[in-house]
Amino acid sequence: MNIMDRSSEYQKMSNEGLVDLLLNRYHKKLRYDVLTITPLFERVVNVHGNSHNTLAAAKKLFDKVVAHLQFHITKEEQMLFPALVQLSDLNQFKALKGPIYCMRSDHQHDDEDLKQLKILMNDFVPPSGACQSYQKLMVLLSEFVEDTFEHMKIENEILFPRFEVEG
Ligand SMILES: [Fe+2]
Ligand SMILES: [Fe+2]
Repeated sequence: MNIMDRSSEYQKMSNEGLVDLLLNRYHKKLRYDVLTITPLFERVVNVHGNSHNTLAAAKKLFDKVVAHLQFHITKEEQMLFPALVQLSDLNQFKALKGPIYCMRSDHQHDDEDLKQLKILMNDFVPPSGACQSYQKLMVLLSEFVEDTFEHMKIENEILFPRFEVEG
């Protein structure tokens, strides 16, 4: 089931419920996935980097986007999400305009980098005769990218609009 199927379910969730879902499903998994993918990616570059010349560039881009994502989710956890849960008055929501704008702009950059990663990694289709590590890397990376798109979509389309008041 993808996010489009679940979006009406997410729309009905409280702010606390959505924040809880983002923290316990998406942020936690992101950190876990990075720990699994990084050493595997490094091994694949070391073994196959010479014969597949986009691998090293893809690894470099992965490291960049992951560092940015980790910094981004820490900002959400420490600053934005506690405010989203605590503030209840429409007037107070105005103070969130700047922070939400920054998060949206982070998402935009990460979205572009992840799309570029997908291109560099041939849409995560392994080359013929790829070893098991290479195949596994493609599966994990593809899941990681799809999860991150979903994660950003929930924030952009369901959570943030609740706090974006006019005026
Ligand atoms: Fe997030
Ligand atoms: Fe985010």
